[in-house]
Amino acid sequence: MTSSLYRKYRPPVFAEVVGQEHVTRTLQNEIIQQQIAHAYLFCGMRGIGKTTVARLLAKAINCEQRRKQDSEPCNKCQSCQAINSGRSLDLLEIDAASNRRIDDIREIKEHIPYGPSQSKFKVVIVDEVHMLTTEAFNALLKTLEEPPAHVLFILCTTEVHKLPETIVSRCQRFDFKRLSSAVLFERLRDLAKREGIKVEETVLGQIVELAGGSSRDAEGYLGKLITLGEKTITPAVASLVLPHSDLAQALDFIGYLIKAETSRAVELINSFLEEGGDIAYFYRQVLNLMRKMLLVKLGGKLADEASIDLLPEFQEKLIDLSSRLTQARLQLMLERWLAADSSWRSSELWQLPLELAAVEIGSLTNTAKVEGSNSDENSKAKTATKANLPADKVEASGLNLQQITERWLEVVADLREYNHSLSFILSVARPIKLEGETLTVGFSYQLHLDRVKDPKIIKVVEESLAKIFGIKLRLRGESDEATTGADLLSNVLTTFGGQVIE
Ligand SMILES: Nc1ncnc2c1ncn2[C@@H]1O[C@H](COP(=O)(O)OP(=O)(O)OP(=O)(O)O)[C@@H](O)[C@H]1O
Ligand SMILES: [Mg+2]
Ligand SMILES: [Zn+2]
Repeated sequence: MTSSLYRKYRPPVFAEVVGQEHVTRTLQNEIIQQQIAHAYLFCGMRGIGKTTVARLLAKAINCEQRRKQDSEPCNKCQSCQAINSGRSLDLLEIDAASNRRIDDIREIKEHIPYGPSQSKFKVVIVDEVHMLTTEAFNALLKTLEEPPAHVLFILCTTEVHKLPETIVSRCQRFDFKRLSSAVLFERLRDLAKREGIKVEETVLGQIVELAGGSSRDAEGYLGKLITLGEKTITPAVASLVLPHSDLAQALDFIGYLIKAETSRAVELINSFLEEGGDIAYFYRQVLNLMRKMLLVKLGGKLADEASIDLLPEFQEKLIDLSSRLTQARLQLMLERWLAADSSWRSSELWQLPLELAAVEIGSLTNTAKVEGSNSDENSKAKTATKANLPADKVEASGLNLQQITERWLEVVADLREYNHSLSFILSVARPIKLEGETLTVGFSYQLHLDRVKDPKIIKVVEESLAKIFGIKLRLRGESDEATTGADLLSNVLTTFGGQVIE
């Protein structure tokens, strides 16, 4: 059913193709000026109009009724209708994903010398062209080197980086763009209107978000809603068929990590799972958003592109979140989240690596000052803790505890180079006292404390402290109950056994 919807909505003229004006305008000019290339290469992600535009081009150049100053196909003549119904003898469409071999290419080549049977041009569209075998590429290349005048090749691919440069350089290349949320939103609204159903804007927004920039995906979801047979689609109705969207949750989750509200972050992971959410998808979603935050931090053009496929409300949220932490901290957070992917894939408890990452990130944030955090309870609590400590008393070392606390992450990051598990242990510990040149660090777990009593370990940490603070500090471990999320972490560790440590 949904596939028929694509066919139904496949734009019959260039004017209905949205978001690819940079392609359609150029092509339409070439059509009018009769300056068609011999081979085109259409690149870009799935469902954004490559095949659509390829067929439009084929139709336009073979249209029997098109006037010279016009670039649109008429969709009425024999040639146009044959293409629209998939019966044209002069349009050869090959899916390279299933016809990868040299024989398949030879077959195309055999067709070519005869020229078009009814029209001016013979058009060959090769979809997913990057899938061809090397031999097939070579065979194709020979044809591209000396193409007969009446043949037009249109190669389409979602993975242009897999194409040999020899092929790319022989084609006129067009990069199709991921469709922005605004463009998709308008397209959906337009299609719903044509179908005579009213889809509430919240639902349209949900679809846009699920579609990830692909018009085909967006139309697929709309198709599912249409089959419900309702005249009005409310969010409640939509929830029957649309997959649970989790962008809002992923953003909340990142917010919790930044504010070190670790237990809320872990709760969110678990309630997400209980509601039948796909944890791997959630993981990627969070990763993707963290990456976007990094791009926002880098600024300029990157920042604009980062959020183009998000709805405005989510764009705002993303920018707000990005402003709440430094680039260095974001980078650490991203690295730690990234690391959760490969580890423990086989774990029975899928959520565990993510929980652990959340706990660790929460502690990273906890040990240092949370920038830009407003007067939420959590940061009040932290200020209160700080006030109890003689934090700003400058010691003989010329440092004070707060300076050390603020740069604790750098120590954690530095040690990571040397030993991941040690770095982890220090990331969930915190500096609690500085007396002269002795730095006391609090550990919530005996296990950790024992580990840092090892003279070899002490030496490593002290070297790192010297590197970062430019002074020789002595490390002393102490047991510390006060670390936020301690119970939670110990739960996690118990479940996980001793493996976190080594
Ligand atoms: N830019 C667009 N404007 C309007 N509709 C579009 C656009 N892109 C895709 N669509 C809709 O999505 C359907 C699929 O598009 P199309 O087959 O052209 O995608 P594609 O880029 O070739 O994707 P794939 O790489 O998966 O083959 C079209 O029939 C059309 O309904
Ligand atoms: Mg296609
Ligand atoms: Zn026509």
